[in-house]
Amino acid sequence: MGLPTPDTSHLCNPKYASVYEPAEDTYLLLDALENDRAELQHLRPTICVEIGSGSGCVSAFLGQVLAPHASLVLSTDINPAATEATRQTTGHTPSDAVFEQCRARFVQSLVPRLCGSIDLLVFNPPYVVTPSEEIDVTQEASAWAGGKNGREVLDCLLPQISQLLAPNGRFYLVVIEENRPQEIIDYLSAQGLLAQRVLQRRAGKEHLSILRFIH
Ligand SMILES: C[S@@+](CC[C@H](N)C(=O)[O-])C[C@H]1O[C@@H](n2cnc3c(N)ncnc32)[C@H](O)[C@@H]1O
Repeated sequence: MGLPTPDTSHLCNPKYASVYEPAEDTYLLLDALENDRAELQHLRPTICVEIGSGSGCVSAFLGQVLAPHASLVLSTDINPAATEATRQTTGHTPSDAVFEQCRARFVQSLVPRLCGSIDLLVFNPPYVVTPSEEIDVTQEASAWAGGKNGREVLDCLLPQISQLLAPNGRFYLVVIEENRPQEIIDYLSAQGLLAQRVLQRRAGKEHLSILRFIH
C-alpha cells in the first residue's frame, strides 16, 4: 500500500495564503521518493535537506519514506509563512525523523557546516519561465517565478551541489522541459554526479520530470 500524502489542510488558514499548495509537481516528487524507498531505506540517509519546502508536504513525506530509521529532515524556505506551514505539517506527521525548519535562501548561513554532509537533498524550485523582474517580487511569485528558461533561481544553487552532497549523497530535482533538463544533467555530470531522469509526466501544459543525481 502507498504511503499517505501528508495532511496540509491547515493551508486554508489565511496566514498561509502565500504558501504554495501541493500540486502535480509536488506529487511527482513524492512518487519518485516512494519509488526509491527500498534503496533510500538501505542507504539510511541521516542528514536530509529540502530547499523551498512550501507547505512541508515533501519534507513530511520524506520522514515517512525513511521510517523507521531516524534522520534529520531540515527544511528551508525564503517565505516565513512556508517555514511555519512546514512546522505544522511535519509536526503532525507520524515519523521517527527529527524535523527542523529555518528561513533561508537555499541553505545559506548553514553552508559551512553542511558542506559534504547532505545525504539527501530535494528541491522543487520556482521553475516557470518569466521575466527576470518577476522573481521574488512577492512571496507568492517566489514559489513559481523562475526567470529566463525558468532557471535563474536554480542556477544559483547548481554550482554548490557537488560540494553540499556527502559521498553517495543524492539530489532530487523537479524540472520542466523549458528548464533544459539535458543541460542540467550535462552540467552536474561534468562534476562527477551520476544523473538520471527517473520520472516524467504531463500535467496540463507542463511536461514535468524528476532528475536524480548521485554523488
Ligand atoms: C514550487 S514551490 C515548492 C513547494 C514544495 N516544496 C512543494 O513541492 O509543494 C517553491 C518553493 O521554494 C521557495 N523558494 C523560492 N526561492 C527560494 C530560495 N532561493 N531559497 C529557498 N526557498 C525558495 C518558495 O517560497 C516556495 O515555497
